[in-house]
Amino acid sequence: MSDIPLYSLPEEHQAVREAVRAICDAKIAPHAAEVDEQARYPQEAHDALLATDFFAPHVPEQYGGVGADALATVIVIEEVARADVSASLIPAVNKLGSLPVQIGGSEELKQKYLGALARGEGCFSYCLSEPDAGSDAANQKTKAERSGDGWLLNGTKRWITNAGVSEFYTVLAMTDPEKRSKGISAFVVEKSDEGVSFGAPEKKLGIKGSPTREVYLDNVHIPADRIIGDEGQGFEIAMKTLDHTRITIAAQAVGVAQGALDYALDYAKEREQFGRPIADQQGLQFLLADMGMKVEAARQLTYAAAGKSERGDKDLTFFGAAAKCFASDVAMEVTVNAVQVLGGYGYTRDYPVERMMRDAKITQIYEGTNQVQRIVMARQLLAGIQSNI
Ligand code: CAA
Repeated sequence: MSDIPLYSLPEEHQAVREAVRAICDAKIAPHAAEVDEQARYPQEAHDALLATDFFAPHVPEQYGGVGADALATVIVIEEVARADVSASLIPAVNKLGSLPVQIGGSEELKQKYLGALARGEGCFSYCLSEPDAGSDAANQKTKAERSGDGWLLNGTKRWITNAGVSEFYTVLAMTDPEKRSKGISAFVVEKSDEGVSFGAPEKKLGIKGSPTREVYLDNVHIPADRIIGDEGQGFEIAMKTLDHTRITIAAQAVGVAQGALDYALDYAKEREQFGRPIADQQGLQFLLADMGMKVEAARQLTYAAAGKSERGDKDLTFFGAAAKCFASDVAMEVTVNAVQVLGGYGYTRDYPVERMMRDAKITQIYEGTNQVQRIVMARQLLAGIQSNI
């Protein structure tokens, strides 16, 4: 028998989990209820993640980052989400916003913006969605036109996570409407660029600590070198980005589901009815068993997908969509069942599971609804792209 551990998490990844969990327990979890209640940005989490290099861990070392691989990044996001889903959007959206630069940007753009992100000079948001471009992401109405020695951007982006907080924005815009998806280009826009402004924060069901706002681009003039990749390459870069980052949403889903399961297990052991802990009731045991089984299946699929992201495997598109879709459906089911385990208490804000349930819902919606994930998976299957495991 080989002494190489077969199909288990490498020691360094286990160490990452332990380190992040310690930070979450000390600095993030204690504020999660208040952040939700007050719908305020989790500044304590921001500061703690920055101080410990978990703010944008995916940034490669050559640009000043710590160069966490896709699996380590997933573990960071999972652990933060276990404590507070809103806070987990800090490392997740920093990856989403900056990955287009990493995938398609010039060397100068990478040095400048990945470097700034690694130094913690600001968060990085991703501006693809618009009022009429949600699932139909290619239906971009925001325009970018050549103007003098640069580009002039006009339009409205909607549902932008961490808008207003972020300093940097990847913005998708139409440069040639005749060409639909091939006429879309990607740009870096800075919060301080003249003509950039933000709408009122959306009043949401969950992830209340993560601001979601519109981003208005009103005659925003940016230099020519802010384009990411070539003109017309934006949609492809945006889709490639999502192949990698849908796995980070799966990680959020696994994290919040694990948080809810952990809470439900402790509660079931302590809460007594009919003269014994409710955990002794077989009906409840079956519920807890299903919760544990599904969280573990979601985690395994998410980690397998992270491995594919790191290697750039050809079945990444399928796995990214599958992990996001499966894990988010599990998160919804598990958090609803955690509320059920706690009964009436679970339905109140005195316990964290109702927040987890509200937060879980978004993972079925953003970075592509689970209906879109099924379109993506079906297209991959029909094109004959199979798992290489
Ligand atoms: N990698 C590389 N190229 C890709 C690609 C991928 N994964 N997916 C599509 N493309 C290319 C295609 O190959 C195609 O090029 P060709 O014509 O040369 O073949 C081109 O892009 C257009 O692709 P489609 O014809 O598949 O485009 P479509 O209009 O049918 O749309 C879709 C496909 C999957 C529905 C896509 O629009 C989509 O993913 N929609 C959901 C959008 C989404 O996920 N938004 C999330 C917003 S971000 C967010 O939510 C963040 C947050 O808050 C945290």
